[in-house]
Amino acid sequence: QKDGFDWFMRKEIHEQPRALADTLLGRYATDGSLTLDEIRIATSELRSIQRIVIIGCGTAHYAGMVAKYAIEHWTRIPCEVELASEFRYRDPIVGPQTLVVAISQSGETADTLMAIRHAREQGSKVLAICNTNGSTIPRESDAVIYTHAGPEIGVASTKGFLTQVLACYLLGLYLAQVKSTKFGEEIVAIMHELETMPELVQEVLDNQQQVLELAADFADEPSVLFLGRHVGFPVALEGALKLKELAYIHAEGFAAGELKHGPIAVIDQDLPVFVVVPPRGRDMLHDKVVSNIQEIRARGARTIVLAEQDDEAVEQYADVLIRLPKVQTLLQPLVATVPLQIFACELATQKGHDVDQPRNLAKSVTVE
Ligand code: F6R
Repeated sequence: QKDGFDWFMRKEIHEQPRALADTLLGRYATDGSLTLDEIRIATSELRSIQRIVIIGCGTAHYAGMVAKYAIEHWTRIPCEVELASEFRYRDPIVGPQTLVVAISQSGETADTLMAIRHAREQGSKVLAICNTNGSTIPRESDAVIYTHAGPEIGVASTKGFLTQVLACYLLGLYLAQVKSTKFGEEIVAIMHELETMPELVQEVLDNQQQVLELAADFADEPSVLFLGRHVGFPVALEGALKLKELAYIHAEGFAAGELKHGPIAVIDQDLPVFVVVPPRGRDMLHDKVVSNIQEIRARGARTIVLAEQDDEAVEQYADVLIRLPKVQTLLQPLVATVPLQIFACELATQKGHDVDQPRNLAKSVTVE
């Protein structure tokens, strides 16, 4: 069943190109239009949406954080992301003009389920992004976009996350199409880029040797930091979560722009820092993160830098440089997360942990 892999998780990491391809399948026509048949919400209703609230737990919440950047940019609809466990207990303001998007791999997470029940009681439409056909969350939602990742057995989510992010992109582009925002040509270009993603993720998998070797150096590290900015921030959070869950190492993800507001105080030669560098685009994000790396380096910390292929600016500041395929900023999480998954899986393996069944964790959290 593990197809020759030592863990389901490792198998699932390797299935990601196929999972992405299956999630894209049939949802995009050559004329540039997107079809999301399972969205059973009338187009007129979708046009009247004034606000989007995305909810989820753990990794699914991080997928929602990535989605916020993309959906707001493409649709100009204000979009918030919240932990389902917070949303349900704080008397949130939602109503008929709010679309609540619930992200859940299993479709059974208690907090997310309770949150969507609450949202529907307030008159909101709920759209589920889910990997499990016929599970409770999509059954209780008004609409669903299924991620076609296939069963995820490893407790730590991998292909679940990547396909959730992809489904969120599809939702954002679909809403942009429905609302006929500026786009048109831009949607076609982004869809073309999304179609190349299975190949690019495969490229990352083919180059994993360096990451596997890197893990050997971390067996005795008590603590690791992850920094990212913009969509790289949720990637940093996800990298830290994977390390906590699997390697039982204290790990934290920070927004790189927050460095000077506190985290820099803990940086010294004993704390390795992973940094996700945005692609060099038209904005200043890339340069700002590169100067963060310099600041970290100046305090003696070891830097493990994830940056796009021909990014020369980072070379002199990286102790270890992990190269990523070139993609536009908003889509970078699909390639940048993969080395962090491999790293956590490998480190946990080397430490002798049960990667598929980490201690204290369950695959679906059906109780609070
Ligand atoms: C982390 C992980 C969890 C889940 C979370 C939500 O690797 O797997 O954080 O993402 O429990 O689960 P779902 O997506 O099933 O609602």
